[in-house]
Amino acid sequence: MRILVLNGPNLNRLGVREPGVYGSETLVDLETRLLTRGEHEGIEVTCFQSNHEGDLIDAIHEADGQYNGIIINPGAFTHYSYAIRDAIASVSIPTIEVHISNVHAREDFRHTSVTAGVTAGQIVGLGIQGYELAMLALKNLKRGK
Ligand code: DQA
Repeated sequence: MRILVLNGPNLNRLGVREPGVYGSETLVDLETRLLTRGEHEGIEVTCFQSNHEGDLIDAIHEADGQYNGIIINPGAFTHYSYAIRDAIASVSIPTIEVHISNVHAREDFRHTSVTAGVTAGQIVGLGIQGYELAMLALKNLKRGK
């Protein structure tokens, strides 16, 4: 099983960016954790971060047929990128959306996700363990659970 983990804008700043909201672990810490967890679960994990909408869209397109699922934290693109929504809708593999913070407890503009409606599901507010939970969910989805 192969999973692609996509992190959008400003997530390269994890660890230094608003640690009270996003925690003290860095993107490298997060990716290391996912690769290790993947090894334990028999999942081959590929991680990619970009601050650019088009790069994320290209990665989503290229994942189709190459991976069994996508985990994406689109960052602020969540709230307004119809292009990322359409990219997710265009592929036949399941996508799970993850947010580290509880977006519903924050500013109003964060309460809307234009992307969630085309995903298999969304995990919000559980910190970076949300990515691991998404990984397990994709594994279960593949097994038909
Ligand atoms: C985020 C929440 C978004 O509102 C924000 O723009 C981010 C991170 C999260 O993981 O909690 O960049 O997606």
